[in-house]
This record gives sequence, C-alpha cells and structure tokens, in this order.
Amino acid sequence: MSDAVLRLSHLRKSFGSLVATDDVSLDLRRGEVHALIGPNGAGKSTLIKQITGELRQDAGTIAFEGERIDSLDTAARARRGLARSFQVSSVIPAFTVLQNVMLAVLGAGGGVYRFLRPALRAPGLTEPARFHAEQVGLADRLTTRAAALSHGERRRLELAMALALRPRALLLDEPMAGLGLEGARHLTTLLSDLRHQAPILLVEHDMDAVFALADRISVLVYGRIIATGTVAEIRANAEVRRSYLGEGA
Ligand SMILES: Nc1ncnc2c1ncn2[C@@H]1O[C@H](COP(=O)(O)OP(=O)(O)OP(=O)(O)O)[C@@H](O)[C@H]1O
Ligand SMILES: [Mg+2]
Repeated sequence: MSDAVLRLSHLRKSFGSLVATDDVSLDLRRGEVHALIGPNGAGKSTLIKQITGELRQDAGTIAFEGERIDSLDTAARARRGLARSFQVSSVIPAFTVLQNVMLAVLGAGGGVYRFLRPALRAPGLTEPARFHAEQVGLADRLTTRAAALSHGERRRLELAMALALRPRALLLDEPMAGLGLEGARHLTTLLSDLRHQAPILLVEHDMDAVFALADRISVLVYGRIIATGTVAEIRANAEVRRSYLGEGA
C-alpha cells in the first residue's frame, strides 16, 4: 500500500451552476501536515465537508486507508477514525473540561443532555480523558466549565475531544481563526507534534502557521488545485503568488 492515508480522486461538487470542487485529486500521507490554502470561496470547506460526508460529491472517489468511504455516512466515517475538529457544537458549556473529554472518550458527544451525566459514571473514562486534556495543555483547567474557557482554551478542548476519538486522520478547517498571535503559536506547536499520531489536512488562512507546519501545501483556486508542493516550492510558484499569496509573501 502507498503511504496515502486519505486519497481524493477527481472530486467534483456543484451548487447549481457553481462548480465549487472541480476535479480535485489530493492525498494525505502518513505523518504529514498537508495544508490546503486558497482565497475565500475557493471551495476549501466544501472539500472538507465531502471528506466528512456532510456533503456528497457529484463525481470522484474518496479512499481512507485503502478503502472507499464515499458512500458511508458521516458517523461511519468518524468511526473509522476520520476526525474533524473545531465543531464547536460538540462542546457542552455547562460541563467541565474533564467531563467534556470524558464524553468524547465515550463517543457520546451530541447525545441527549439528561443522559450524559449518568454516562460519565462509566468506568475507565477519567484516565484517557485526563491524558488528552493534558496533551493539549489543559491540565490545570480540568475542573473548569467549558463556558469559562478563553477562546484559545476552548479550541484546545475541541482538539482534545477529537483526539479522544483516537483519530487516524485529522481534518482541521481554520483552527487558528480568532486565536491571536500567542494562541496561534501555541496551537501550531501542538499540531506539529500531533502529525505522527494522525496526519493532518489543514485548511488555514494564517500563512505563518501554514509555513511553519506544512510538509506539503495544495493551493485551491475556484475549486481547482493549481499547485501541490513543499513550502519552498509553493512560495516560489509564480501562479500561486499571483492568485493567492500576493507579491509580499
Ligand atoms: N451549501 C451551499 N450552497 C450553495 N453554495 C455554496 C454552499 N456551500 C458553499 N457554497 C459556495 O461554494 C463556494 C465555495 O465555498 P467554500 O465555503 O467551500 O469556500 P472556502 O474556500 O471554504 O472559503 P473561506 O476561505 O471563506 O472559508 C463559494 O462560492 C460558496 O458561496
Ligand atoms: Mg471555508
């Protein structure tokens, strides 16, 4: 088998007459951060949603660990280990950091509220939950309610919840958004260490983070990938500079 964990082949998705994803082929390899960059409206989120199953492609295929997953629903893809973080809705504000991560360990996120507290009494949840909370630097916030976290801490909680699912690939859509310089640096360090645990497909506008993290970069413009390469190759690519990075990059 090749080292592609996730392989997109000739994906196409239209909304009416708008072709949002136009013949996109891309692979995510073991151990890498693969950044997907491009202007607003290029189709980055639409592509991520096709991978998670929130949107169904019109044509093309998606293979994960060598098997087609494109006819599976979102939950089945998640069970196979495709994790999308920063789905804010999965955090329960009234629960503590530790309780939220415990729910993720349990795989009970999004369940009916009144059943959740009893579920937390299931054995064996605390240790893995503590481990993942500590992994994202929230060791001193375990008993803090999610509602009281800063924006950056909440992002880290969401990441811990994704890690609790033992992902085999991570899909991150603009994780740096709204974090500020310090928060973005912290998350950059964290993500850098995670790539060996699960390869990361990273959609991001923060080019400092992209250049610091990416093993490879693909550039999406009007639904089409115009270039894929290393940071150095993408920075030197004249078409990319024209269409996205600008001459100052
Ligand atoms: N559900 C939808 N119905 C109709 N058009 C849509 C839908 N979702 C996205 N689009 C359109 O598809 C194009 C791609 O949108 P998408 O959100 O994927 O861009 P993006 O690259 O993620 O942009 P940004 O960087 O601003 O997040 C846009 O023109 C958008 O308006
Ligand atoms: Mg988007």
